[in-house]
Amino acid sequence: MNTPTLPALGLGTFRLKDQQVIDSVRTGLELGYRHIDTAQIYGNEAEVGQALAESGVARDALFVTTKIWTENLSRDKLIPSLKESLQKLRLEQVDLTLIHWPSPQDALPVADYLQTLAEAKAQGLTRLIGISNFTIAHMEQAIAAVGADQIATNQVEIHPFLQNRKLIEYARTQGIHLTAYMPLAYGRVMQDATLLEIAARHGVSAAQVALAWSLQQGFAVIPSSTRRENLASNLAAGKISLSDAEMSAIAALDRGERLANPDFAPAWD
Ligand SMILES: NC(=O)c1ccc[n+]([C@@H]2O[C@H](COP(=O)([O-])OP(=O)(O)OC[C@H]3O[C@@H](n4cnc5c(N)ncnc54)[C@H](OP(=O)(O)O)[C@@H]3O)[C@@H](O)[C@H]2O)c1
Repeated sequence: MNTPTLPALGLGTFRLKDQQVIDSVRTGLELGYRHIDTAQIYGNEAEVGQALAESGVARDALFVTTKIWTENLSRDKLIPSLKESLQKLRLEQVDLTLIHWPSPQDALPVADYLQTLAEAKAQGLTRLIGISNFTIAHMEQAIAAVGADQIATNQVEIHPFLQNRKLIEYARTQGIHLTAYMPLAYGRVMQDATLLEIAARHGVSAAQVALAWSLQQGFAVIPSSTRRENLASNLAAGKISLSDAEMSAIAALDRGERLANPDFAPAWD
């Protein structure tokens, strides 16, 4: 069986529910997205599954990610919860399953739930496994538990205002791929003067520049949108090539602005 690679441009579905998520996924698939990112906690796996089934896109052309919620990390819950996700998604196997967050307060050891996730992979429930919101310390434990080559990606918040350099450097030394979530800083990139200026120079939008900046560093990006025109332009961001000077100008925008920081978040790097 071919090991699927993680498509660099994916479609996020956080916050999107009911008809809105069905419409977003349907339009995204029409436009050419093939990588869809959902999670147990988003409460939309069934609607994502419906949109996938109704699209007529061949299963082997799709790359579907879900994430195990913190309440399902224990050995007795993880695999049954993934089976439930598969049922909702109407799939026999997802392409990628992530641990959504490290166990809050590290109540459960990383090695335990990573090994259970590896077991889910061995059972054929998921083609790839990975992690999300893992700090360097958590990544070290994950690597010790299952090996870096088993970890398809660490999905973390990265955008021009939170560049996460320490974590990125560590991931690079270990050969671990990164996926940038909230790559548009939830729409805030549209107001930044530097990004707007670079965008004007290329005749594109600030959102596209932010996505190109992540893609050019080798990260996958998973922007979300409810609008066809935004979905289409985000997908086209892969065609933009930023100069070294433009990449440096964007590097200077880092201000450690973290948008996803729930009370159970780990101690960030
Ligand atoms: N692993 C995790 O813990 C985690 C946490 C957060 C997010 N995520 C994943 O990352 C995905 C992306 O994050 P996100 O949805 O929170 O934020 P985001 O993708 O950074 O931003 C989405 C916002 O930007 C707007 N937008 C999208 N494209 C645009 C464009 N071309 N021009 C102007 N505005 C645009 C959208 O509005 P419109 O609908 O009006 O276009 C929406 O309000 C999520 O959907 C989820 O799948 C994962």
